[in-house]
Amino acid sequence: MTPKRLVVGISGATGIAYGMRILELARKAEVETHLVVTPAGQLTRLHETDISAGDLAAMADVTYRPADVGAAIASGSFRTAGMIVAPCSVRTLSAIAYANNDNLLTRAADVTLKERRRLVLMVRETPLTMAHLRAMTAVTESGGIIMPPVPAFYLGPESVADIVDHTAGRALDLLGIDVPDLPRWGEESVPNNETLMSEEKLIWNT
Ligand SMILES: Cc1cc2nc3c(=O)[nH]c(=O)nc-3n(C[C@H](O)[C@H](O)[C@H](O)COP(=O)(O)O)c2cc1C
Repeated sequence: MTPKRLVVGISGATGIAYGMRILELARKAEVETHLVVTPAGQLTRLHETDISAGDLAAMADVTYRPADVGAAIASGSFRTAGMIVAPCSVRTLSAIAYANNDNLLTRAADVTLKERRRLVLMVRETPLTMAHLRAMTAVTESGGIIMPPVPAFYLGPESVADIVDHTAGRALDLLGIDVPDLPRWGEESVPNNETLMSEEKLIWNT
């Protein structure tokens, strides 16, 4: 049987940790990962991590050069469960929104949309202009999912790693990839949940 495959794109927005964590969690879930990192993505690796390009490539099962527009993931006949771009820069968002397939990452994203597979874009920019919002709307109209990396404070994160874990896990959720031990609202793994819920009832009843 063909293993479950996930395409991961890393572009040049801040937050390369999200893409790295997605690769780690997918590996734990025994999902085969296919990675493409843009040159600006490599720049953020230099700014935000101590790891080499080789170390990053080794986190995936297969890594492609962004210029290799003839690679497997550039074709719809190469079957995948979908693609996550984490983080997704505004430049990459805009290219995907308007099918401007200028490198392997944007081509693979367009293929994901045209094959009606799951595409999740972890768009990272703030504040947003109308151009950004229009590009997000265009991707949504084409069937993609815009998922900005926004922390959930109600889960009581104790570190940056907790915040990254939760967002990376929620992105994998959207692809149907199970992340064990991901804190979820309404489940026992959320700290002090029972106490909070009973106090919350009191608030609503006053
Ligand atoms: C350290 C650093 C952080 C950046 N952060 C962002 C960001 O959060 N969002 C964004 O859209 N662009 C950001 N940029 C700018 C993009 O890298 C730039 O627009 C680049 O052309 C994107 O190319 P790509 O989409 O091919 O990766 C950042 C650049 C650097 C060097």
